[in-house]
Amino acid sequence: MSKKFYITTPIYYVNARPHIGHAYTTIACDAIARRQRMLGSETYFLTGTDEHGQKIERAAQAANKTPQQLTNEVSAEFRALWDRMNLTYDDFIRTTSDRHKQSVQFLWRKIQENGYIYKGSYTGQYCVFDELYVDAVGPGAPCPECGRPTETVQEENYFFKLSAFQDKLLAHYNGNPDFIRPETRRNEVMSFVKSGLRDLSISRSTFSWGIPVPDDPKHVIYVWLDALANYITALGYGSSDTKLYDKFWPADLQMIGKEIVRFHCVYWPAFLMAAGLPLPKGILAHGWLLFEENKMSKSRGNIVRAETILDVLGSDALRYFLLREIVFGQDGSFSFDALVQRYNADLANGLGNLASRTLTMITRYFRGEIPYPSAKASHNASDDAIADAARKTINEYSALFDQQQFSRALEVAWGMVAAVDKYIVENEPWALGEKQDEESRARLATVLYTSAEALRIVTALAHPVIPDATSKIWAQLGLGDIRSYALSDLHWGQLKLGTKLGNIQAVFPRADKTAIDKMQRLEDQGRSTTGATQAQSPTPVANAPASATQAIKPAGATVTPDGKISIDDFAKVELRVGQVKVAERVKGADKLLRLEVDLGSETRQVVAGIAEAYAPETLVGRKVVIVANLAPRKLRGLESNGMIVAASPDGGKPVLASFLEDVPVGTRLK
Ligand code: MSP
Repeated sequence: MSKKFYITTPIYYVNARPHIGHAYTTIACDAIARRQRMLGSETYFLTGTDEHGQKIERAAQAANKTPQQLTNEVSAEFRALWDRMNLTYDDFIRTTSDRHKQSVQFLWRKIQENGYIYKGSYTGQYCVFDELYVDAVGPGAPCPECGRPTETVQEENYFFKLSAFQDKLLAHYNGNPDFIRPETRRNEVMSFVKSGLRDLSISRSTFSWGIPVPDDPKHVIYVWLDALANYITALGYGSSDTKLYDKFWPADLQMIGKEIVRFHCVYWPAFLMAAGLPLPKGILAHGWLLFEENKMSKSRGNIVRAETILDVLGSDALRYFLLREIVFGQDGSFSFDALVQRYNADLANGLGNLASRTLTMITRYFRGEIPYPSAKASHNASDDAIADAARKTINEYSALFDQQQFSRALEVAWGMVAAVDKYIVENEPWALGEKQDEESRARLATVLYTSAEALRIVTALAHPVIPDATSKIWAQLGLGDIRSYALSDLHWGQLKLGTKLGNIQAVFPRADKTAIDKMQRLEDQGRSTTGATQAQSPTPVANAPASATQAIKPAGATVTPDGKISIDDFAKVELRVGQVKVAERVKGADKLLRLEVDLGSETRQVVAGIAEAYAPETLVGRKVVIVANLAPRKLRGLESNGMIVAASPDGGKPVLASFLEDVPVGTRLK
C-alpha cells in the first residue's frame, strides 16, 4: 500500500491581495507535495482562503462592498494566481462554502457534547488585525503580536475550556519532539503553555460575518476556530462523505508563518483533543519575507506582487529564488537585484547553460542520441568523480530537502552543476568533437554521457522546485513526462544508450539589466507614487529608491497601460484637512515625528518621516492634508493612522502641502 502524505498551507485572509509573502508558503508546500508525489506517496495538498471575521467585514465596508463580494473577488485572485504559478494543490477551501460551514458546526457540536464549551461573558481587549483576544491588559493597550491598539470588547460569549488542556498539550509536545519545528518555535510555545492557559472565548455576538453557533445564531463562531477547522472540513469531516478524511487525516505537515504559531500549536491541537480527533504529525513555521527590512505586508504597503516576477522572469525564477535564497525558518530579504543575480548565476548560466551545451553537443556529434560510455580506454578518474558526486548529491539533497532545508539542498545540487561544468571545461568535448579517431570518439561519448547523466540527476532532483524548466529539460533528454518519474529509484547510470533527444531550446534566457527596471516599473504601476506616501516613509524621502515607496494601489483600482487612473479610482483616496495638535520626535528615529492631528470628527495619530524638515514645535497648530482612509501601519512600534501629504523634491527635504486661504478642519479635498 502506498504511503499517504497530507500537507496544508494556512488559508489566506481575503482583506489583502496576494503578494509574494503568501506565495512563499504555498511554493514551499508545492515543492514538498511535488517531491512526495514523485516519491510515490499518495499526496493531498490543501490551500484556500479565510473569509470570515471582523477584519474582513471591515475591509469590505472600507471598499464599499458586501463581505461576500469582497471575499469572492479576492479568493478568486488567490486561486487564479496559484493556477498561474502552476501550484499543484488538490483542493482550495473557502470558509464561506457550505461544506465548510456545516462541518464547522459539526465540530462545534462535538466539542460541546464532550463538555468543553460553556456560556459566559468576555470583557477585555481584542485585536481585530490579528483576530486575537488579548487578555489581562487595559483599554487601549497595544496588541502584543502586532502593536496595534486593541479594542475593548464586552460581549456575551461562548468559552472553550482551554485550561483543561494545559497538561495534555505539554505531554504531547514532550512526547513528540517533532510536533513543532523549528526548535525556537517549540520552546516559545512550551513556555507560553507552561505559563498557564486561560479559557478562550470562541464566539462573537457584536457582528454577524461568520458561521452561526449551532442553536444560538445570535453568535458567530470565533474566526480562528472556523479557520483552523478548514484542515479537516476540506476532507469532508462531519459530512456524509468522509473518505478523504479517513484516508488523509492526521496531516503529515502543516506549514505556517511564524506569526500564527500560537493558533496552530496551542488552540488547534486543543480543539482537536476536545473533539476526540487525532493531532497533525508536524507543524512547521517559516520566517518572514522582508522587503526594505520590514515584513512584507499590505498594511505596511511594501508588498511585491508575484505577477511582476512571473511576467518578467517566469514562475521557476521566483520559486527557485525563494527556496534557495532564504534559509527556511528564518526571515529573509527580497530584492529585485538579488533575484536577477540568482536567476542569471544559477539558472541561466548554471543549469540552463549546462543543459544547452550538453544537449547541443550530443545533437551535433551523435545525431541527437545518447552515446555509450563503456569503452575502458575512454574512461578516467574524472568520470568516476562525477558519478560519485552524483551519488552523494542524491543522498545529501534528499536528506536536506526532507528536513525542509531547501536552501542547503539546492546548494548541494548546484554544487553538482558546478562540478559538471568544470568537468566539461577540463575535458573539452568541443575539441574532441573535431577529431575523427576512434579513441577521441570514445572519449567524447564518455564525456557527453557523463554530462547528460549528471544533468538528468540534477533535473530530477530539482523538479519539485523548478517544475517548468525541468519538465522541458527532461523532455529534451528524451525522457518524456518527468511527473511520472519514480524519484525513489534515482541512481547513476539509468540513462539509456540511444535515447533520442527531443527538440533543444534554451530554458532560462539570460536576464539583462532592463529586467530589474521592468519589474520595478510594473510594481510602481501598481502603486501610487505621491509625496503623500513618502512623507510617511521612515526611509530618507529624497533618497528612497522607487521600490521603497510605501504606497499601495487602492483596492480595485484600474490602471491603464499609460499609468492613468480613473476619477473613481482617485475618489477612493480620502484626502482631508487636519490640524496638528501635538508633535514630538520619535525616540531612536531621527526622521520620524509622532503627530496628533484633529480631523474634525476625530483625532488621529500619524507617524511621518518629516523630522529632518520640520521641528516639532513649528507644526503645532498648522493645517495639513491627510490621507484619511489609509490602512493603519506601525512605525517604530507606533501605529500611524493616515498619512501627511508632502511634496518630495529630488534630493531635497519634504515640503508639507498647505493652503493660502483658511480651510475648516475636516474638509475633504476632491
Ligand atoms: N488567515 C490566517 C491564517 C489562518 S490558517 C487557519 C492568516 N492569513 S494571512 O493571509 O495573514 O497569512 C497567511 C500566511 O501567509 C502566513 O502564515 C504566512 O505563511 C504567509 N505570509 C504572509 N505574509 C508573509 C511574509 N511577508 N513573509 C512570509 N510569509 C508570509 O494569517
